[in-house]
Amino acid sequence: MRAVMVANPKGGAGKTTLATNLAGYFANQELSVSLCDLDRQQSSLRWMAFRDPGLPSVTGYFGGNQMLINLPQEPDWVVLDAPAGFQGYKLNDYLRAVDRVIIPVVPSIFDMAATEDFLNAVRQDLRGRAAKIGIVAMRVDPRTRAAAMLEEFLRHFDIPILAYLRNTQNYVNVAAAGQTIFDPPRSKFKRDAEQWASLLEWLKD
Ligand SMILES: Nc1ncnc2c1ncn2[C@@H]1O[C@H](COP(=O)(O)OP(=O)(O)O)[C@@H](O)[C@H]1O
Ligand SMILES: [Mg+2]
Repeated sequence: MRAVMVANPKGGAGKTTLATNLAGYFANQELSVSLCDLDRQQSSLRWMAFRDPGLPSVTGYFGGNQMLINLPQEPDWVVLDAPAGFQGYKLNDYLRAVDRVIIPVVPSIFDMAATEDFLNAVRQDLRGRAAKIGIVAMRVDPRTRAAAMLEEFLRHFDIPILAYLRNTQNYVNVAAAGQTIFDPPRSKFKRDAEQWASLLEWLKD
């Protein structure tokens, strides 16, 4: 089992979008995947409930009430969808239990400011550990001023940007249908799936 957590203190950053699409990606690779929803709003589980049983299967559960971290060991991958405002000892416990941490950041001055303390805390806690941390630039084209601002902001942290995902209703539409951009027919979201390539490589490393 390998575990990846998607976290960012800000709501609307794209955590659930990343977590559900990652789960869908693994499922389409014929890997077993469990989606652990840590958010009381349970958006990931709601997405799962919409999912057509004919699609590659994603199982999941609500992990938000657990006192002790108890990730399932059977699946190939566990994907954790963290709530907004995730911090403190609980965040630290989870950082110890996972192999990868993905932080989606929308390149707005408000989102970047809200993420700064979180990035410092995570980096501090992961020092000397095997877990790796990376950023996904959400809703942004790499050739824009917004992307340059994000790169400038991240220069202080020495954390890699793993992917730039463009702003598109495709993510909104697939989510509403319990699907991902990796579900068939794949050709439909080819342009978006391509933007995930380096992130997926980094996960498998
Ligand atoms: N790349 C994107 N392009 C367009 N809309 C997006 C993108 N990523 C996320 N969204 C939308 O933004 C909203 C917030 O994303 P969500 O994943 O729920 O954030 P979080 O879980 O961090 O609160 C959702 O409606 C989602 O569909
Ligand atoms: Mg969410």
